Amino acid sequence: MRLFFALWPPADARRRLAAGATSGARLLGGRATRVETIHLTLVFLGEVAEAQLPLVLAAGERVRSAPFELRIDQLGYWRHNRLLWAGCTTMPPELQSLVDDLRQALTEAGIAFDDAKRRFVPHVTLVRKVPEARVAGSLPVIKPILWSCARFALVESQLTEHGSVYRMLKEWPLAPD
Ligand code: 2AM
Repeated sequence: MRLFFALWPPADARRRLAAGATSGARLLGGRATRVETIHLTLVFLGEVAEAQLPLVLAAGERVRSAPFELRIDQLGYWRHNRLLWAGCTTMPPELQSLVDDLRQALTEAGIAFDDAKRRFVPHVTLVRKVPEARVAGSLPVIKPILWSCARFALVESQLTEHGSVYRMLKEWPLAPD
């Protein structure tokens, strides 16, 4: 199973991000993320044996982080994977804690994951395969999108001939102390 933990935006934020993806792809080329797949990855686990799923679920269960507001207010482009993404100029400390807690719970459960040592850069992928030559100079300024993060999810990604299909396996609330 190909698994990842993610934040899934509420309908309004999802629609606005998807609209940004569509305009981005129109302007720059590439493939816009579909509205139903817009998300922010917290931890990407990659391939996990099905027998380990209960351990992954237990790790998610152990995380008790606080809810927070995310202000998506900037665009970014990564040359190495030709991604246009939306992110935040200021990362809420609760978001970093959520990622740290998930990483710790997975490590303690003996689950290996891809980005164990990588710095977490929160991003919502808007457009894939953006031709590099089309991203000239600075990216447009965007109107901030506010996103209330009150839960996180464990998601399975299935690769199909039409792209990735995501299936939410379980959601947990982010609860104040
Ligand atoms: P991306 O949007 O930056 O590609 C499902 O594939 C999610 O996991 C995507 O949001 C993807 O991020 C993220 N992810 C992180 N590391 C990944 C990796 N090594 N391979 C595939 N997806 C990865």
